Amino acid sequence: MIAMGSDHAGYEMKLVLAEHLKERGYDVKDFGTYSTESCDYPDFAKAVAKAVADGEAERGILVCGTGIGMSIAANKVKGIRAAVLSDEFSAQATREHNDANILCLGARVIDNDKAIKLLDIFMDTPFSEGVNHIRRISKLEQ
Ligand code: RB5
Repeated sequence: MIAMGSDHAGYEMKLVLAEHLKERGYDVKDFGTYSTESCDYPDFAKAVAKAVADGEAERGILVCGTGIGMSIAANKVKGIRAAVLSDEFSAQATREHNDANILCLGARVIDNDKAIKLLDIFMDTPFSEGVNHIRRISKLEQ
């Protein structure tokens, strides 16, 4: 299952990305918010991050205005490696090097086409399993 969340600013982009993931055959769970009414991004970042950290979800997708607030909040949960992305190179690198498990996007920064491209790279790129990267990630966990 892929856990998804947004605040009001990311709500519409989240729906587009959820539809895209469903078309690709993924099981998606939306942890809110469920409208464009103003709300607080840490609430949804926490719910998605906990689902990923607990193993309920294989990965998470979070969308707010910039992606930054979501990434700050999600990275407070142990075991989470959330990356806020706006370019393809970083999307590939954060999977290969950081084994990022949550993708954060800014709906006021990138358009839906770019978001779908980044989402596909994030979903399709495996962790490199390189010993240097494994060592660095284990230092993050400590
Ligand atoms: C909401 O106005 C905005 O602050 C939020 O979506 C996000 O960009 C925070 O990082």
